[in-house]
Amino acid sequence: MKAFDHTKYRPTPAVKLTSRRWPDRSITSAPRWASVDLRDGNQALLEPMSVAQKQRLWGLLVKLGFKEIEVGFPSASQPDFDFARWLIDNDRIPADVRVQALVQAREDLIKRTFEALRGCRQAIVHVYNSTSTIQRERVFAKDRQGIIDIAVAGARMLQQEATKYPETEWTFQYSPESFTGTEMDFAVEICNAVVAVWQPTPQQRCIINLPSTVESSTPNLFADQVEYFASHVDRRDSITLSVHTHNDRGCSVAAAELAMLAGADRVEGTLLGNGERTGNMDIVTMAMNLYSQGIDPQLDLSNPDEIIQTVTECTGIEVHPRHPWVGELVYTAFSGSHQDAIRKCLLQQLPDEPWQVAYLPIDPKDLGRDYQAVIRVNSQSGKGGVAFVLERDYNLSLPRWMQVELAQVVQGASETRPGEVDSSEIRQLFNEHFVHTGSPFELLGYRIDRSDNDVIEVSLAAHGTQYTLRGEGEGAISAFAAAWQKFSNEALNIVDFQEHAIGEGTDAEAAAYVQINIAGKRVSGAAFDRDTVSASLNAVLSALNRSALQRAQSAA
Ligand code: KIV
Ligand code: ZN
Repeated sequence: MKAFDHTKYRPTPAVKLTSRRWPDRSITSAPRWASVDLRDGNQALLEPMSVAQKQRLWGLLVKLGFKEIEVGFPSASQPDFDFARWLIDNDRIPADVRVQALVQAREDLIKRTFEALRGCRQAIVHVYNSTSTIQRERVFAKDRQGIIDIAVAGARMLQQEATKYPETEWTFQYSPESFTGTEMDFAVEICNAVVAVWQPTPQQRCIINLPSTVESSTPNLFADQVEYFASHVDRRDSITLSVHTHNDRGCSVAAAELAMLAGADRVEGTLLGNGERTGNMDIVTMAMNLYSQGIDPQLDLSNPDEIIQTVTECTGIEVHPRHPWVGELVYTAFSGSHQDAIRKCLLQQLPDEPWQVAYLPIDPKDLGRDYQAVIRVNSQSGKGGVAFVLERDYNLSLPRWMQVELAQVVQGASETRPGEVDSSEIRQLFNEHFVHTGSPFELLGYRIDRSDNDVIEVSLAAHGTQYTLRGEGEGAISAFAAAWQKFSNEALNIVDFQEHAIGEGTDAEAAAYVQINIAGKRVSGAAFDRDTVSASLNAVLSALNRSALQRAQSAA
């Protein structure tokens, strides 16, 4: 038998829908978002988040404007239980935010989940069991009625436990896990059985969440399933219909969008799509899709660098440079014809007219980014660009984002006079552009205590006055960023940091390159020093000095 054999697979069965309505509809408002970063996202990590990481991600989710946040699976994980308790005992849940906890339909686990949520103002208890044909037949060896009995028993237990905690405003949620692999008549039957227990009303709704646990079809088939479900389930007006899509075929965002057309009111997902296998539905992408159509996404995504930095540091998963809307390269044009079209459109774009710029679906400034036109400067007649020359002649390995910025600077210089820009000129332009270690901020010295976390004390001259800054973090740069934030009262995010030795031997110099986000804008800086920490701190100061200069210029 061949190993790569498509005949092993069968197409996903389609629902028989005769007069589907979703294709004629359009999305006109944002769904109710529910973040599952701290549960589904966390479950999918090789190394689950620490308490500090969960607290940090929670802070970000609240700041972005999420009103429903699944905080964990407290009956299955002690850290999740402790995190829920930390939120409640320390009064960390804003009045308009509902926390959600997932639980299997089992008595002991449900009891434990209610204990985790005790004392909460309002909370969602999310109970699930698997309903697909494969799970019924091959995993649970139960018939349809056996699976319904589990769901109904779970639904009753939620109701019973809730009466023990009357101080909390409870919402019940049920997921027929593996919904997309379930026969639709059965999906409706089991959800109706759960709804019959809960007896929701339009004033007190329950949530029915339809998971595409493993994405197995084109999004139009999922939309058909959702429309079939929405038009057959009982008490539709008393149900918040939610969807939870995964990205196995790369269509989780499309599936959630079409599901909204088909009747979904609520969408579960994660920031930047972390989650089991190929991930959960990426809320940043879907929300930005809405934004680019003139629809308020009801989330503040104006600082994607902060989102990327927090998510990356909490999950340990990098973001692809071409990630929709927020990747490092998505507002960079390499092709000459694209650059020409963009330039012409930008010249004609008036500030208060709708955005009409070819190749740029939104204004990069909305996300604190700049449009970058990259012209590969082949100053050495085809032997490579700026990065090649700096590497070959000066042993400098620039990060890609710095190569892109420097290429523009060199291009600008080459346009002002005839002839090629040579290697020493490129090096000079690099220094003039990125290395600004003296003013208005200058590093006078530092002390670092590398015990548990790094604690740094930095002596700094700012506009001629000497200050001492203190901060703590993982590594000198994070500790310095924390110190700077305290000193200046301004958020400082380190978007990327790279360093390397120039040459070999113990007295080799270190080169440090950093890109920061300050006041919602990205700025990069570089520095060199025999001491690696000084090089790193000076690279950050170079960026801060450049930012100060830019701000002074735009204020003038
Ligand atoms: O993917 C899934 O089916 C889930 C459920 C538990 C909602 O995460
Ligand atoms: Zn999931």
